[in-house]
Amino acid sequence: MIFGICGSPRQQATDYVTKEALKMLEDKGFETAYFSVRGKKIAGCMHCDYCLREKECIQKDDMYEVYSLIKDCEGLIMSSPCYNGGISAQLKAVMDRTRAMGAADIDFLRNKAGMAIAVGGDRAGGQEPAIQQIINYYVLTGAIPISGGSWGANLGATFWSKDTIEGVKEDEEGFRSLRKTVNKFAEFLENVEIE
Ligand SMILES: Cc1cc2nc3c(=O)[nH]c(=O)nc-3n(C[C@H](O)[C@H](O)[C@H](O)COP(=O)(O)O)c2cc1C
Repeated sequence: MIFGICGSPRQQATDYVTKEALKMLEDKGFETAYFSVRGKKIAGCMHCDYCLREKECIQKDDMYEVYSLIKDCEGLIMSSPCYNGGISAQLKAVMDRTRAMGAADIDFLRNKAGMAIAVGGDRAGGQEPAIQQIINYYVLTGAIPISGGSWGANLGATFWSKDTIEGVKEDEEGFRSLRKTVNKFAEFLENVEIE
């Protein structure tokens, strides 16, 4: 199962392109699951270290839905709107809260494939720094970051929304970067057996 986590608090551009990515994967025969931070309660990590002792997070909120889906996935998509040249605080909270998964099993994401999508209101509004933050998370957790390769999707899928859902739908280059990244992601998953 491929799990897509959308880091936008709105049902707009990032939500749209994340669902498009999952549809492309479904067309290739993959099962998918989707989670949006929109309307969810996901508190920031408090660094209380309860998880290190008890192997679960003390904050019993909507993160528990994410925990079980991450556990079951073979590939992860993280998407985010660009906020101040980086990822949203909501997606960062999701990342930080997976410390509890690492406490229970340090290899909770090891060798799973990861891809990244970033959506900015500006054409060059920090999409690549946002993607880099997601890639760093994959590297830290032992996941394998997959890009779409040179000539269009060097680090992953990047979109220019012009701050609207209509804008993102018109971003042909963005969709080209998404198709390239999804294709490489699927190719990797089809060819690698994950233990
Ligand atoms: C707090 C905040 C900070 C933002 N910072 C940036 C930015 O640094 N670069 C950029 O291109 N767009 C920035 N934007 C615009 C959003 O990235 C853009 O509208 C995006 O399409 C929002 O995604 P959504 O439609 O999925 O909510 C910012 C928006 C907000 C609310």
